[in-house]
Amino acid sequence: MATDVALDIGTARTRLATTEHGIMFDEPTMVAIDTTTGEVIDVGHGAIDLVGRTPRHMVVFRPLAQGTTVDFDVTARLIAGLFDHAGVSKLSRARVVMSVPSLATSIERRALRQAAIQAGAREVSLMEAPIAAAIGLGLPVQDPVGSAVTVLGAGASESALISLGGIVSSGARRVGGNDIDNAIATLLRLRQGVVVAPSIVEDLKITMSSARSRSHGESRTIMARSIEDGRLESVEVRAELVNAALADVVSATLRLIQECLADAPPDLSQDVSAQGMVLVGGHAQLTDLSDLIAHTTGVTVRVAEDPGTVIIRGLQMCLEQMSSLHGLFRQVDR
Ligand SMILES: Nc1ncnc2c1ncn2[C@@H]1O[C@H](COP(=O)(O)OP(=O)(O)OP(=O)(O)O)[C@@H](O)[C@H]1O
Ligand SMILES: [Mg+2]
Repeated sequence: MATDVALDIGTARTRLATTEHGIMFDEPTMVAIDTTTGEVIDVGHGAIDLVGRTPRHMVVFRPLAQGTTVDFDVTARLIAGLFDHAGVSKLSRARVVMSVPSLATSIERRALRQAAIQAGAREVSLMEAPIAAAIGLGLPVQDPVGSAVTVLGAGASESALISLGGIVSSGARRVGGNDIDNAIATLLRLRQGVVVAPSIVEDLKITMSSARSRSHGESRTIMARSIEDGRLESVEVRAELVNAALADVVSATLRLIQECLADAPPDLSQDVSAQGMVLVGGHAQLTDLSDLIAHTTGVTVRVAEDPGTVIIRGLQMCLEQMSSLHGLFRQVDR
């Protein structure tokens, strides 16, 4: 029996849904591979659990950066591992719908499609992330009204105004939540002389940061490894450091949203003023970010419920209504 699969492979997280079972996988974009046989050992959390515990011939990969595939072969193996995980056999020749960042080049799109085909998919349809998000939000994407959606992920950020099934104006950058984590880690190394585990860095961002610097004055004590002697020590991290690390990504985010709004035709701008803008993607949850965007642009902004899964929910709806939404795929399926 043919299986239909929706796939959203992100820089940080990968999500898979089927029409039958809904969201079946929502885990870190990681794959552990046996480099002697090329066999996939595990994906997602299972692969993370192997970090630092594996013999030399087992390697854990993160095949995406800035929203796109940096390692074609590993991405194909990741997708094969995901099919396995979801019980989709290679023989079922699944029909797959996948999201791509709107700023992905035609080469990047082809690479993603080929990776899915190499993993066993029969037919692959690509959809730009903001359109999949708008469908997941239940916005009237096919109508002649403007719907404003901003996708804020780990490695890519894109703001789009959608009308009549297509993107009318947009702004996008290859930056996201991951870049903030990297900036926090760099500041901790330079200012406090310590190296901190990635999961702790992300936790500092989630719990201490504020895009409007409202958390200034707070501090937290964490365990970190000294660069000088490699010993674990407790260090006090101040919110000022975490907020300083946000600055570049936050200003790039504001700029790309302003570009999208500035390019909008007048009629659709009025729709945005009336309907507001919806933020999706995990990074949309950054404390005070939606508030800052609303304040800077003058547009009403809301963060979607469970913002990280909006795109995969939209893709799953596409699987269910493939025939009526067919035109939306053709536009990006180059
Ligand atoms: N509560 C939170 N506050 C701030 N950031 C958060 C929060 N929860 C998750 N994030 C961040 O959201 C990002 C993950 O979002 P998402 O799952 O949408 O990314 P992705 O799809 O993997 O990336 P991309 O689509 O850009 O390739 C990570 O950078 C994570 O740190
Ligand atoms: Mg994403």
